Amino acid sequence: MRPPRLLPTWAAIVCLCAVARGVAPPKKTSCRVQGGRADCSHLHLSAVPADLPGGITSLDLSHNTLTAIGAAALGRYARLTRLDVSFNSISRVEGGVCAALPSLQSLHVQHNEVHLLRREDLSSCTNLTLLNVASNRLKLQGEPFSVLQKLKYLDVSKNKLASAKLGSEPQLPGLVTLSLGHNDISALKKDDFSFLNQSSFLRVLNLSSVPLKTLEPGCFQPIARLRSVILDGSNMGTAAISKLCSELSDTSVDALSLRKMKLVTLLNTTFTGLQNTQLSFLDLSFNGLGRIEEGSFASLSRLQTLVLSDNNIKHLTKGTFRGLKSLKKLQLTRALVKSRTSATPIIDDFSFQALPNLQSLILQNTAVREITENTFTGLTSLTELDMSWSSYTSFKNITARTLVSLAGSPLTKLNLAGTAIVEINAGSFSVLRNLTTLVLDNNYIKQTLTGREFEGLAQVREIHMSNNHQTVNLSSAAFAHVPNLRILTLGKSLRSTALNLESSPFKALSDLSVLDLSNNNIANIRANLLEGLASLKVLKLQHNNLARLWKSANRGGPVLFLEGAPNLLTLQMDSNGLDEIPAEALRGLSRLRELSLAENLLNNLKDSVFDGLESLRIFNLQKNLITAVRPQVFGTPLSNLSLLDMAKNPFDCTCESILWFVNWLNSTNMSSVPALRDQYMCNTPLAYFNRSVMEFDTQSCKDMTPFQALYILTSTAVMTLIVSALLVRFHGWRIQFYWTILINRTLGFGDAKGAEGRQFEYDAYVIHASEDAGWVDRRLLPLEDAQCRFCLQDRDAVVGTPYLQSVLDNMRKSRKILFVVTESLLRDRWCRRFKAHHAYHEVIESNRDSVVLIFLQDVHDYKLSCSLLLRRGMLRPCCILEWPVHKERVPAFHQKLLKALGMTNRLQE
Ligand SMILES: *[C@@H]1O[C@H](CO)[C@@H](O)[C@H](O)[C@H]1NC(C)=O
Ligand SMILES: *[C@@H]1O[C@H](CO)[C@@H](O)[C@H](O)[C@H]1NC(C)=O
Ligand SMILES: *[C@@H]1O[C@H](CO)[C@@H](O)[C@H](O)[C@H]1NC(C)=O
Ligand SMILES: *[C@@H]1O[C@H](CO)[C@@H](O)[C@H](O)[C@H]1NC(C)=O
Ligand SMILES: *[C@@H]1O[C@H](CO)[C@@H](O)[C@H](O)[C@H]1NC(C)=O
Ligand SMILES: *[C@@H]1O[C@H](CO)[C@@H](O)[C@H](O)[C@H]1NC(C)=O
Ligand SMILES: *[C@@H]1O[C@H](CO)[C@@H](O)[C@H](O)[C@H]1NC(C)=O
Ligand SMILES: *[C@@H]1O[C@H](CO)[C@@H](O)[C@H](O)[C@H]1NC(C)=O
Repeated sequence: MRPPRLLPTWAAIVCLCAVARGVAPPKKTSCRVQGGRADCSHLHLSAVPADLPGGITSLDLSHNTLTAIGAAALGRYARLTRLDVSFNSISRVEGGVCAALPSLQSLHVQHNEVHLLRREDLSSCTNLTLLNVASNRLKLQGEPFSVLQKLKYLDVSKNKLASAKLGSEPQLPGLVTLSLGHNDISALKKDDFSFLNQSSFLRVLNLSSVPLKTLEPGCFQPIARLRSVILDGSNMGTAAISKLCSELSDTSVDALSLRKMKLVTLLNTTFTGLQNTQLSFLDLSFNGLGRIEEGSFASLSRLQTLVLSDNNIKHLTKGTFRGLKSLKKLQLTRALVKSRTSATPIIDDFSFQALPNLQSLILQNTAVREITENTFTGLTSLTELDMSWSSYTSFKNITARTLVSLAGSPLTKLNLAGTAIVEINAGSFSVLRNLTTLVLDNNYIKQTLTGREFEGLAQVREIHMSNNHQTVNLSSAAFAHVPNLRILTLGKSLRSTALNLESSPFKALSDLSVLDLSNNNIANIRANLLEGLASLKVLKLQHNNLARLWKSANRGGPVLFLEGAPNLLTLQMDSNGLDEIPAEALRGLSRLRELSLAENLLNNLKDSVFDGLESLRIFNLQKNLITAVRPQVFGTPLSNLSLLDMAKNPFDCTCESILWFVNWLNSTNMSSVPALRDQYMCNTPLAYFNRSVMEFDTQSCKDMTPFQALYILTSTAVMTLIVSALLVRFHGWRIQFYWTILINRTLGFGDAKGAEGRQFEYDAYVIHASEDAGWVDRRLLPLEDAQCRFCLQDRDAVVGTPYLQSVLDNMRKSRKILFVVTESLLRDRWCRRFKAHHAYHEVIESNRDSVVLIFLQDVHDYKLSCSLLLRRGMLRPCCILEWPVHKERVPAFHQKLLKALGMTNRLQE
């Protein structure tokens, strides 16, 4: 019986994984038809669907619950060339199937319950080139495959077959690959493969995981043209392998895969059978191989590739690889382990000397005690040496002696990543004159590079020194000896101050095209850092601390360090805390194709800051603080994009901020803006909060014009109102004053004219504080004569009239009202409340320019207006007089006073 079906479990796991990766595919509920192919897998179908287009050429019915496939159901799809019914419960392949599908070329029936297979079942399948009946319960009756004249690929693995003999008469003339793995074949008899003795194209025989013990002499003779033999996982033992090799000796075998065979020991006789073959590829990985006798490979003089990965080899000696004259590639990843007698595996001096043609030596994940002066001696063709992720004691402190055994090798690529290097001394690589690529990633280098470390590497084009676990300092001459450098990676490697050098360490590298300085927390670089790097195409500066350099407030102005690299194609400056980009920072980068500024703090970008970027195709601004996407900023960079990532910004969804962007997105191919629906969210205003920007109603902006007019109108009105209110509040008196005068003048009101005609009794009514009476007596009264008479309330009041009435009468009888202004006057209640009010009344109401102020003290206009309701600005300048300090000016004051009093009261035109 077949094991219980694990399908649902598997489906569940696959689904879970998909969900976990965030790409939950929509659950399929019906067949998917596309380009002539119908995918009906995983649908719990128990019958072939009848509603698919008749013209389909490929039908996938795998992972369902079909129990049979019949001509009746499939007949309607007569043009099928491929039919997949794997992973069902089919117990019979009916003869009619192929008859109904004359064009059928591939038939996949693996993982079913097919038992008896007869000649009639396949009799019409003449066009078949692939037949996969793996994982069934096959019992062959007669010669079922004999009709398959065009078959190239036959898989009958995992069927518990006891014999490789699938037929007794010659058949399958076109067969290329035969898969017999995971069957119970324990012996290969002489004539087992004779049914293939006319299959001249047979190349691949897969016998993996077959418990082969006996091989009769000549068993491979009928299929001697075989090229590849796969025996992975067949636990044969060293003796059976020797036998296998002798049986293969007369074949054209070229590649032999002997993985996972528990082949613990190789003897000097194991492969002797292969001496006369053309074997060029041998895979011995995952064997737990512990001992390789000297000379074990001696008979494989044509071998080009030897894979010994994942074994337990403890010791390589001078004789281990003897005879491998043609070997080009030796793969020793995780091949060497420590032994009982040595804490580390041992590579003897001259171990590789027998490999004059070796070009590639892979020693990854190896822990070897010592690299001596002769470890690699004799590798005269070696161009690639990979010792990454290994620990060699000698690499802690690399000196000029460490790699001297490679002096005779034309090495072009050396990989020392993850080898725990702490220090590199002057001239360490100087013997590697042909070296073009040096990989030093993931080490513990702690030193200042003076430049002498790379002495002699004039040919080097790439130096990789990223992810250094300690920090490297640079000097200005650090790369002086590698003038041909094209690629330099120093990501997560440098001291944060390493680039703050007077003279740039990259100055001489005119061919440099890729420079990675990311993840270094660099805060200080000079404007000349990239000077002369005219070939620089890719610059990586992400995860540094460069925000200050681009601030307008930076001392000395923003540092425009990109000016030295005008031909950049890719610039990455993510995660630098940038909140500003100077208007000129990206000028001149007209070739830039990719710009990445994700995870910064960018918000208000200056207009036209990206305007030089006409070639931009990829633009990443994810996770910034961008609220508005306006055409003045983004018009140019967004004009030609193939990929935009502006997700996770706090967009402001108002017409002003987002309308242009929403229209742009709508007219753009959605695939060029990934995650548009769920990661472009409005943050403001409240009405759109947490909704997709694509939900923004662009129509609401269309009707903006009338609203705009209304808006302008209302705002103007409000502004006018505010201004008026302010004016009235602070200059109301002035307005009122002039307004009244204007009205009176226009309408001819007022008594100025009449008053002019009428005879005044007094020239001036003098208002003064009682404290100032002395001054009035001494200074004012002496001026009285025939033409000039003052009215003083105390002196000229008519006896018997009430006080207020007499004040009013006297004022009316006077042509002018004269205030003697002092602080005391302002404090005087009568003056303030009554006299001043009436004077004011006279001025305002009667339109009489009739007030004269004499200032004995300097009084602030504000106080004046508070107390007397008068301001200097209300009066003509000649009506404002100041009592002079100097005695000699008193006559002039008198002159002025008389002039002020003698004037006509009418405002002069
Ligand atoms: C094989 O397929 C070809 C077209 O691909 C067709 O013309 C021919 O009839 C088919 N042979 C058989 C025996 O059906
Ligand atoms: C192929 O094998 C058959 C027996 O299965 C034999 O009769 C025939 O002679 C063989 N042909 C060749 C060319 O070896
Ligand atoms: C050999 O067949 C087994 C199944 O029996 C398969 O898993 C393996 O991938 C095949 N090997 C090659 C190299 O095709
Ligand atoms: C193989 O090794 C044995 C000892 O293990 C030795 O006697 C014999 O000479 C070796 N043969 C060759 C061809 O090196
Ligand atoms: C490395 O070797 C050099 C020269 O042999 C020596 O001067 C230096 O101190 C060594 N450094 C360390 C860390 O051992
Ligand atoms: C290595 O460099 C030398 C000169 O330094 C040159 O003659 C030789 O051809 C180069 N070898 C290779 C494989 O490039
Ligand atoms: C790097 O240089 C700074 C100052 O120039 C110095 O303090 C520091 O020790 C140096 N670090 C190394 C690893 O040489
Ligand atoms: C996108 O454009 C189409 C017409 O091209 C229009 O019908 C649709 O309303 C637009 N959507 C938005 C969100 O502007």
